[in-house]
Amino acid sequence: MSAEKFAAGERAALAALCTADAERELAALPQRLQKLRAGALEVRDPTAADGTLAVLLRLARELPAQTVLEIGTGEGLTALALALACPALRITTVEADAARHAAACAHFAEFGVRERVTALFADAAVALNGLQGPFDLIFLDGPKAQYVHWLPRLKELLRVGGVLAADDVLLYGWVDGSVPVPYKRRSIAARLGDYLAAVQSDPALETLVLRVGEGLAVSVLLR
Ligand SMILES: C[S@@+](CC[C@H](N)C(=O)[O-])C[C@H]1O[C@@H](n2cnc3c(N)ncnc32)[C@H](O)[C@@H]1O
Repeated sequence: MSAEKFAAGERAALAALCTADAERELAALPQRLQKLRAGALEVRDPTAADGTLAVLLRLARELPAQTVLEIGTGEGLTALALALACPALRITTVEADAARHAAACAHFAEFGVRERVTALFADAAVALNGLQGPFDLIFLDGPKAQYVHWLPRLKELLRVGGVLAADDVLLYGWVDGSVPVPYKRRSIAARLGDYLAAVQSDPALETLVLRVGEGLAVSVLLR
């Protein structure tokens, strides 16, 4: 997808790109990965919700993306789905938790995508400085309070016409005020609100907030 396509402020083009048939997208994934995802979602191990993954798969295919950066690998299930759905895709993914990083590497090896996935065991705050873009698609799914602080660097790493997709931006309805924020979660809700305000007011970005999972902010870099 070219930047010009979006430059005229064609939110409709972006919206069309973000429309995905989750059932069909997920049914195309290998049975073993479907089982891993279902198991993870059942025990609330963090992985992207079905609707979120479906949008990411469609974006990766139709941009089309050759390079993806994921912040927050978890056990690698979303990176794996992207790698399997797009056989030419190269993915860089960053995880700070040793056990999750190890589980993700085991999954990448099991599914034969290890050579296309660079799995970094690092704090993204540090890793981001050393990464080389440009990436076609960035999936931001790490510590929510950091999204707004990392935004300038993520924009540098994104190609013009590329997409930054940030997960959980509505977080249980706390961010848009539809559900009262528990006292201890006020800071994270406020930082996510700051992130949304930043991407929505940035003239270099066209942003849609999708009601999939806990909210996915999809921003195209226009220039
Ligand atoms: C929601 S999970 C990621 C799920 C994964 N993207 C998926 O869809 O399968 C968020 C991950 O971010 C990791 N994380 C938290 N802080 C981090 C940091 N500073 N740098 C890198 N990873 C971090 C957590 O350990 C956790 O595994």
